[in-house]
Amino acid sequence: MNDIHIAGTGIWFPDEVITNDEIVSSFNSYVDNFNEENKNSIDNGDVVPMEYSSSAFIEKASGIKTRHVIDKKNILDIEKMMPSVKHEDESRLSIHAIAGIEAAKKAMKQANVSADEIDGVILGTSHAARNYPSVAIEIQNELGIEGYAYDMLVGCSSTTFAINNAFSDISSGLAKTILVINPEISTPFVNYAKRDIHFIFGDGCVATVVSKEKTSGNCFKIIDRKLVTKFSNNIRSDWSYLVRAASDEKSIEDLLFYQNGNSVFKEVCPMVAEFISSQLTANNIKPGDISKFWLHQANSRMVNLIVSKVINTDDFDESLAPLPIQKFGNLASAGSMFAFNLHNDLKQGEKGIICSFGAGYSVCSMIVEKI
Ligand code: COA
Repeated sequence: MNDIHIAGTGIWFPDEVITNDEIVSSFNSYVDNFNEENKNSIDNGDVVPMEYSSSAFIEKASGIKTRHVIDKKNILDIEKMMPSVKHEDESRLSIHAIAGIEAAKKAMKQANVSADEIDGVILGTSHAARNYPSVAIEIQNELGIEGYAYDMLVGCSSTTFAINNAFSDISSGLAKTILVINPEISTPFVNYAKRDIHFIFGDGCVATVVSKEKTSGNCFKIIDRKLVTKFSNNIRSDWSYLVRAASDEKSIEDLLFYQNGNSVFKEVCPMVAEFISSQLTANNIKPGDISKFWLHQANSRMVNLIVSKVINTDDFDESLAPLPIQKFGNLASAGSMFAFNLHNDLKQGEKGIICSFGAGYSVCSMIVEKI
């Protein structure tokens, strides 16, 4: 079989930045208000007082320093604590399409491919923008791409699973070149009044051109793909079209993203380290022969722990496992390819691992080689 390549990538992220001190200051003001408003109930022991968040905790526990967001003002406003967006309808392009088109144009330029050379668009994301028409078809139409397009959802593995689908379509002969797009507009889904998650997410989008042809001077051959899913309730998002008809009462807050972050950490790190190690063994590649680990950006400690287990030492430089999470926060499924986009200056013949892990649980690891 002929090789299949990652021929180019592009990223989009909003201009506005929130620092840890800013997000903590907003959260702590909310805590003061909550505790003051509920003073009597707290004094009676009927309500548990809220505790302050801290920048020191956030940086130590997650590695996050800043995050780029679509609406800083309204996220930090304690009367709102969410970005302000408009209902989407046929009168304008959707927010996911706007982000996706920006990233896609950069990826197409880097890959040196035009719209008429693309056979399909696969859009993977953690949160469906709407039921239909799919955002992928909206973007396909805007970019003037023929062929087919569809959306898919696999939580934080939506990007790598989408690249995997592109690979499969190309290797089966269905397509020669596929544009993969992964918008992750997560901030509308964050409960900014919850101390253990208010700091985690940022907004961003990555796009990847996957092609049979070596279309650019910066192509990476996909040597191997490995995927697994294992059911877990530790990361959930229960918002759906069924909400309207549900007979049992739940608040919108109850339906937002929630997780048992510590259990995720403990269960996913060994699972992913073992997953990557066995993939390397199956491909006769030594861990020391991997020049770059572009891992899912949920937590810098997770990235470092997984890499140290795979290479059997914690004595390595950050350049081996880049951490865009420090600047962008958790970008859901876009994190690993954001890392790839920003740090892929490998020499010919050098190899790297792109690996996602997240809700589902879902894991996808790809070994790539610079050609
Ligand atoms: N500020 C200060 N303290 C905080 C805090 C905050 N914002 N949030 C939580 N804490 C406290 C907790 O209440 C807890 O206190 P306790 O020890 O008195 O009970 C303590 O800090 C430790 O909390 P814990 O939840 O164990 O922290 P952690 O070290 O596991 O870090 C995460 C939390 C979320 C950063 C980390 O678990 C993580 O990143 N997990 C992986 C998540 C993931 O991959 N999710 C996928 C989503 S895409």
